[in-house]
Amino acid sequence: AHKVILDTDPGTDDVIALLLLLASPEVQLEAITVTFGMCRNTDVDHAYNNVLKTYEVVRQHCDAHPEDAHRFDHLNARPQTILSKGAAGPIAGEQALAEYFHGKDGLSNIMETHPEFSFPQPFEHPWLKETDVAAHDVILDVLRREPAKSVTLLAVGPLTNVAKVYAKDPETLARVRRIVIMGGTFDAPGNTTAVAEFNIYADPFAAHQLFSGSSTLPLLVVPLDITSQHTVSFSALILDDPKTLLQTFVSAILARPRRVLAALGYSGDVFEMHDPLAAYMVTMHAAQESDVLLPGFRTTWRDFVIERAGEHTRGMFVVDKRASIEDAGVSRARDGIVAERPTGDVNPGILRVEVL
Ligand code: BDR
Ligand code: CA
Repeated sequence: AHKVILDTDPGTDDVIALLLLLASPEVQLEAITVTFGMCRNTDVDHAYNNVLKTYEVVRQHCDAHPEDAHRFDHLNARPQTILSKGAAGPIAGEQALAEYFHGKDGLSNIMETHPEFSFPQPFEHPWLKETDVAAHDVILDVLRREPAKSVTLLAVGPLTNVAKVYAKDPETLARVRRIVIMGGTFDAPGNTTAVAEFNIYADPFAAHQLFSGSSTLPLLVVPLDITSQHTVSFSALILDDPKTLLQTFVSAILARPRRVLAALGYSGDVFEMHDPLAAYMVTMHAAQESDVLLPGFRTTWRDFVIERAGEHTRGMFVVDKRASIEDAGVSRARDGIVAERPTGDVNPGILRVEVL
């Protein structure tokens, strides 16, 4: 199985992404590292607890619905996934939270509606093992232990933990197979401000630090431009008459985003699959045992800087639309296959990353 570290701030769509990873036998989750992002004050604690809660729900689901347990059978034969808590706030700048969208607890305040979705303390679980080691050290431990280019790091929250890894030991981070990042927007509107996507807005300094390593790090960015086009109808996710524990759980955690989006005037009654799409890319690459993109997807290379201090533009990707890769005489991704990393003279102040 393909080894993956998930850095996450659950969060509703993070939980959907986690469920997808858990139900994918091609993927072996080595570690889950948690970051702040979703809710106020104790947000990293809530996010951490939401991972415990998700694992507990899946375990209870398998017990209550043996006919569905085969989806998660492979987890019984795997080493336990390490769970670690990471950054409680950004490297610099004010803390931004997405509580309005995901709820105070990050999951539509599920305990108010479904107190049964708690988890025992102390938490003991066959698939998950908690550690006190800090998130960035857990990521480094896994990358040091596993063969070079064998572990994918999937980052679907603010990039603080990953930037700390890069700051502490860039050579070890460069052993990663790929860093798949849900974050940012290039041409689409922002979802936190007019111009910024949440994960980048929440810690633009971290994003800048990490992306400044993009000449040595295999970064693949999955931005809003593509994730916001991948939607699923809420009516397919939120069931009026859920039959299983997992259906009840998913229906409950998505209730608030549905209400918020309707109140904001979004049409369509659909959920944007930000983190699940990035997780899907990782599972599909794992299934085909190569990083060649799926038919229908293609990547390009973009040059930009990340605004960190702007009055109205914090977290914006300021794209240099003047800098043409073709002009630099290098090949560009075509037909969904990235043939080679572009080379050529690039202004060193400009970041260059591969973008889905
Ligand atoms: C990102 O922000 C969070 O709300 C989602 O979990 C996703 O990671 C989308 O902008
Ligand atoms: Ca997220």
